Amino acid sequence: MKLSGKVAVVTGAARGLGRAIALEFAKNGADLVLIDISKNIDEVPYALGSSSQLAYTAQLCRELDATVLVCETDLRDMGQIESAIEQTMARFGKIDILLNNAGIAAPSGKIAHDVSQEHWQVMIDINLNSVWRMTKAVGKYMVKQGAGSIINIASTAGLVGYRHFSGYCAAKHGVIGLTKAVALDYAPLKVRVNAICPGSVRDSQEVEGMMLSEIARVLKVSVSEHEDTFLQAQPMNELVEPQDIADAAVWLASDDCKRMTGSVITVDGGFSIK
Ligand SMILES: NC(=O)c1ccc[n+]([C@@H]2O[C@H](COP(=O)([O-])OP(=O)(O)OC[C@H]3O[C@@H](n4cnc5c(N)ncnc54)[C@H](O)[C@@H]3O)[C@@H](O)[C@H]2O)c1
Repeated sequence: MKLSGKVAVVTGAARGLGRAIALEFAKNGADLVLIDISKNIDEVPYALGSSSQLAYTAQLCRELDATVLVCETDLRDMGQIESAIEQTMARFGKIDILLNNAGIAAPSGKIAHDVSQEHWQVMIDINLNSVWRMTKAVGKYMVKQGAGSIINIASTAGLVGYRHFSGYCAAKHGVIGLTKAVALDYAPLKVRVNAICPGSVRDSQEVEGMMLSEIARVLKVSVSEHEDTFLQAQPMNELVEPQDIADAAVWLASDDCKRMTGSVITVDGGFSIK
């Protein structure tokens, strides 16, 4: 129970890594604010998390004895974010952990000069600007508390380039820059800011994650071909599991690493070593 008595806000919590992290936080004693857009976006060529998936994450967390607040919030909208954080403060009176996980993998799959402005903008707006918006909305409370842990889910795409993923890579490199700069802003104020860079994560029925299949679809290759490409590039020859990311998030959120800030942790089976 590393997070007993702590309140954690998790974005993109309807499914995938967000659900895996929320469940692990709940298992470790945290109360939760689960945020997701819970509807589709025209520019994103696959279904996003739904209301029922978000409600199911909440049910699973409650079964683990967590008190849960659910917010259907579009992180592109500062007004909606402020309202979710006001509700959080009214309900819990504090925020100990902010886990910025919500993100999209596509629109992607095009050579850089064929990416439309509209597609570029939606990618940067969700994957980078939303992390900044959440930090802006929550950071001021953590600073007042004199404590807090912000964890940003970046990607190996924040460390290296991926062909035909210029917008995604630019956004994730931006998340790492933001993590380091905000870590410096907040270091004297005892608020820690770190990033996790997952490698390619195995699709999991349990958390309804499907990013690997979606990326394969974008690249017009079969899922097994896509998996093989990643396995060959990973020294450990194993795809990352959602639980691996959840375990890293609990550790970063906990007091076990209370003097750790500005770190960028890879959980990628060794993909980015060389
Ligand atoms: N799965 C992987 O292989 C992998 C690898 C590296 C990094 N990541 C990163 O991990 C994070 C989670 O990925 P995942 O695979 O679980 O994806 P996912 O699509 O299963 O989950 C992402 C969630 O974010 C939500 N979301 C998207 N836009 C939103 C918005 N505007 N407002 C609120 N919620 C919004 C979606 O509804 C969805 O429920 C992303 O930031 C992704 O870039 C994933």
